[in-house]
Amino acid sequence: MRHVGKGTRAVRGGVKHTSDDVGSVIEPIYQTALFDFREPEKKVVPHGTAPLKYSREDNPTVHAVERKMAELEHGADAVGTSSGMAAITTLLMALIRPGMEVLIPLDVYGSTLVLIERLGKFGVKVVITDPGNENVLASIGRGVDIVFIESLSNPLLRVYDIPQIVKAAHEVGAVVIVDNTLATPIGMNPLLHGADYVIHSATKYLGGHNDAVGGFVIGADAEAMKGVWEWRRVLGTIMEPFTAFLIDRGLKTLHIRMRRHEESARAVAEYLMEHPKVERVYYPCMPNHESYELARKLLSNCGGIVSFEVKGGLDAAMAVYKNVRLIIPSVSFGGTESIITHPASTTHAHWSPEDRARAGIRDNLLRLSVGLEDVEDIIEDLDQALRRVP
Ligand SMILES: Cc1ncc(COP(=O)(O)O)c(C=O)c1O
Repeated sequence: MRHVGKGTRAVRGGVKHTSDDVGSVIEPIYQTALFDFREPEKKVVPHGTAPLKYSREDNPTVHAVERKMAELEHGADAVGTSSGMAAITTLLMALIRPGMEVLIPLDVYGSTLVLIERLGKFGVKVVITDPGNENVLASIGRGVDIVFIESLSNPLLRVYDIPQIVKAAHEVGAVVIVDNTLATPIGMNPLLHGADYVIHSATKYLGGHNDAVGGFVIGADAEAMKGVWEWRRVLGTIMEPFTAFLIDRGLKTLHIRMRRHEESARAVAEYLMEHPKVERVYYPCMPNHESYELARKLLSNCGGIVSFEVKGGLDAAMAVYKNVRLIIPSVSFGGTESIITHPASTTHAHWSPEDRARAGIRDNLLRLSVGLEDVEDIIEDLDQALRRVP
């Protein structure tokens, strides 16, 4: 499905395997661990790798959503995994060899950084750069084998210059992996800018309802993806069929939800910019953001996350965090419910103060995932919480 819009691809893309005689419009949930192996040659071969045999290897419900993700990201193939971290692990297991060098900026998702640092024990050299395009570009040189970046960073929402980074990486023969979780395929398609692999935490916007944990690896090259499929098989990191169903269902409204997330996030950012108790607002499509020009060039949707610093330090931020009523203090983002996170005490709590400073995570920073409630109610809640700031 190449010549239709993103919305049509989100609703109707993928494949359908039903051969039943009841005319199901929706792909059934194939909740089965194994498949009848008589005459396997007559059955569907999802990735062209092996006939359906066992759901740790392949499953038709999972395959249906994988095809949809491949279409949404303009990839040759996709594999669904049990989480975003499982997607990163499976891909890295397929790619790394002792002696390889992996380059990664400090502002990637914390668990990604920990995982990649730990590859050191397999003889991989890990180079962690300071955040920002200049620092990444300056570090790409001979010897680099893999560059791992996020198209839109978290929580400060820096836009990484995928076309420039891909160009520099490919000049030295390095592979580029882009975590496109925050931008989503609606905001950006890194493979169209030459990246080699895209990974997603489907737990966030793709599923979109805070009710499923999953991930995807999407690759530009079908042959290379066979290695990823093989590693998923031996690691056992495949997505559950019911999760695949939920994520496929979520994807059908992705384009609509992202439009609304963006609209509401922009309104919240504008409100916060004017608030006397707010020191600084981070939203990539606001002119005060360091990535504003790149966001205009590369993003077709600015997403639903707004981060902000409250005047008065840690206590002031905690006053907002503890006093919201509609917004839920928690972790994660990208779902229907608005969620507020205090990075310094949650996602970045185990970091040293020096590393937090290097990454720009201040004690008074809050990250707000603007949900799909009425934006007036979200703003009203922020307003009453900000009134509690001493
Ligand atoms: C940008 C990003 N990538 C990957 C992950 C990992 O995804 P999961 O929690 O589904 O394993 C997360 C989780 O927060 C994330 O924010």
